[in-house]
Amino acid sequence: MLTEACTLLLSWIFLYFGHGTNASSTTRQCLGDPLEALYGGGIVVNPEFNYNIEGWKAFGEGKIEERISKEGNRFIVARSRKHPSDSLSQKVQVEEGKIYSFSASVQVSQGREIVAVVFKFPNGDGVRGGDVVAEEGCWTLLRGGIVANFTSPVEILFESKTTSVEIWLDNVSLQPFTKEEWRSNQDKSINEVRKSKVRLQVTKASKTPLKGTKVSIKQIKSHFPFGCGMNHYILTNPDYQNWFASRFKWTTFTNEMKWYSTEKIQGLENYTIADNMVKFAQQNGISIRGHNVFWDDPKYQPDWVKSLSPEELRTAAAKRINSVVCRYRGQLIAWDVMNENVHFRFFEDNLGENASAESYSIAQQLDPDTVMFMNEYNTIEYSEDKNSSAANYKKKLEEILSYPGNANLSAGIGLQGHFGSGQPNLAYMRSVLDMLGATGLPIWLTEVDVGKGPNQAQYLEEVLREGYSHPAVKGIIMFVGPLAAGFNVTTLADKDFKNTPSGDVVDKLIDEWNSGTQEITTDDQGFIELSLFHGDYEITAENHITNSSATVSLSVTQAEPHAIVQVHIDT
Ligand SMILES: *[C@@H]1O[C@H](CO)[C@@H](O)[C@H](O)[C@H]1NC(C)=O
Ligand SMILES: *[C@@H]1O[C@H](CO)[C@@H](O)[C@H](O)[C@H]1NC(C)=O
Ligand SMILES: *[C@@H]1O[C@H](CO)[C@@H](O)[C@H](O)[C@H]1NC(C)=O
Ligand SMILES: *[C@@H]1O[C@H](CO)[C@@H](O)[C@H](O)[C@H]1NC(C)=O
Ligand SMILES: *[C@@H]1O[C@H](CO)[C@@H](O)[C@H](O)[C@H]1NC(C)=O
Ligand SMILES: *[C@@H]1O[C@H](CO)[C@@H](O)[C@H](O)[C@H]1NC(C)=O
Ligand SMILES: *[C@@H]1O[C@H](CO)[C@@H](O)[C@H](O)[C@H]1NC(C)=O
Ligand SMILES: *[C@@H]1O[C@H](CO)[C@@H](O)[C@H](O)[C@H]1NC(C)=O
Repeated sequence: MLTEACTLLLSWIFLYFGHGTNASSTTRQCLGDPLEALYGGGIVVNPEFNYNIEGWKAFGEGKIEERISKEGNRFIVARSRKHPSDSLSQKVQVEEGKIYSFSASVQVSQGREIVAVVFKFPNGDGVRGGDVVAEEGCWTLLRGGIVANFTSPVEILFESKTTSVEIWLDNVSLQPFTKEEWRSNQDKSINEVRKSKVRLQVTKASKTPLKGTKVSIKQIKSHFPFGCGMNHYILTNPDYQNWFASRFKWTTFTNEMKWYSTEKIQGLENYTIADNMVKFAQQNGISIRGHNVFWDDPKYQPDWVKSLSPEELRTAAAKRINSVVCRYRGQLIAWDVMNENVHFRFFEDNLGENASAESYSIAQQLDPDTVMFMNEYNTIEYSEDKNSSAANYKKKLEEILSYPGNANLSAGIGLQGHFGSGQPNLAYMRSVLDMLGATGLPIWLTEVDVGKGPNQAQYLEEVLREGYSHPAVKGIIMFVGPLAAGFNVTTLADKDFKNTPSGDVVDKLIDEWNSGTQEITTDDQGFIELSLFHGDYEITAENHITNSSATVSLSVTQAEPHAIVQVHIDT
């Protein structure tokens, strides 16, 4: 029945690809109320430009000047710019090991332009620290940061490709944090966003409180998806099966659902491996993110696709999306629909500018209850890659959402998180999560791993904590695993399934982000109050005097933080 409904749509898909109607305009996101410099500007001198340009100088060939708004607010303008980095700058001192959070209000004199903050070291190296689409006529918040890996003076400056626009700035802030402060900030956030206070009262059926009653509170499921990529070795290696199923309830297949895997030869679809992996996951209560319908990188098309004419590609793509989305309809929690379409544009080049937007629209029609994700690399992990910065990611997202019919798309933001072997820039990562989180859409880290190096396990832990503690992050999948399954970048278990240091980190966090089993005794009024991770619980109260007990199930969610759970023990 399902297949039939899906197939009926096929003829319509042929018409759909490449035929758009009117686009609606993208939304403006101006700062509402004026925002003062965060942290009072931190280590920035004269952050609000109340003292003219004291502490600042023109950078490059431009000119800088102070202006005053109608309301009397003083801000600074970089004009007569000849190079992208012609702007204003201030020299500050950074200390090795500290994490620096940056923010500033920015505006451009004309249109919409990407404005970036750059940190320039004495040796001439510049590190990009964050960017945003700034607009004419309204202030936008630019966020970013760096982790200083040596003690040094550093120059804060700004960059925008279009030199004909003026860059306007106000309320610039650079706030240092020690690693300990950063960590305690994460822990505080975890308490707020991943846990809720619960009050239990144990009474007799007559409502008489039972004091001194021992209550066992056991978490049986976590609500936060902290999962792991899986590959075809899961079908043939029982040790891998046990390793996986004893740890994870969420997964993404690394390659097995991709077009190049399911249709190696044109017209000969073979879903045997993907189907069997779906079966394994379902038998073990593991939820699956679908990965992926299309991949916009020309390198990763099935070989036969590379030589198709645009017309032939249109037909093949329509068949592909219909085939794979219908096959797993209702069985997946997400689809990465057009993988890496911020970096690449194979389908846009061959099928037209709207190819991504159309594929999201079609996928959602075929599988209405599944969240349709973008999925991109380097957006959180590598600030030097301008191509997939938060500003460019958001542009592509807005383009998809503003396509006719996509206003109600159940859209998700996928950030792969393939980190290198160096110190991850946690300040930058957080600023990107803040900026993309402001869309209100769910963010998932979808393919987290960390390059080999002496601090691999530590950096993996830092990245996972940063993701887990951010309120906009609704799930994390790592692309890691045991060596026996070929995971040779971030290996969690050696050939004998013994934990590596990274494996220890993952097991530690699974344990830490779970309330486990707690035994607590009720107070004089029969109450117990505690903070629990969001999840499903089994609560058992035993009265040793009367030998009676009661068990209730409880789902702890963000929605009902202070509900009192009544446990009645009959006597
Ligand atoms: C893309 O879609 C928009 C909005 O429907 C439409 O105006 C435009 O012509 C389409 N572009 C192409 C190349 O099909
Ligand atoms: C900067 O902060 C001051 C308050 O400290 C405020 O009056 C001003 O409007 C802010 N500027 C912007 C552009 O938000
Ligand atoms: C489909 O793939 C499976 C697993 O690789 C293989 O055993 C089977 O022979 C394939 N079927 C066809 C018709 O090629
Ligand atoms: C960004 O895109 C440009 C133009 O497509 C390309 O030349 C460059 O290599 C890309 N940079 C990265 C880091 O991917
Ligand atoms: C989108 O959602 C709104 C509000 O729920 C609804 O009024 C509208 O009809 C929906 N549009 C489409 C195209 O489904
Ligand atoms: C130190 O930071 C610079 C700039 O981000 C980077 O190029 C370099 O690789 C870093 N060194 C280490 C050891 O992480
Ligand atoms: C890691 O695995 C990939 C894919 O299986 C392989 O191409 C690569 O050579 C391996 N790298 C190392 C260092 O073993
Ligand atoms: C409670 O149960 C224990 C063991 O089942 C039994 O020995 C004891 O007599 C019981 N006490 C009461 C008050 O029923």
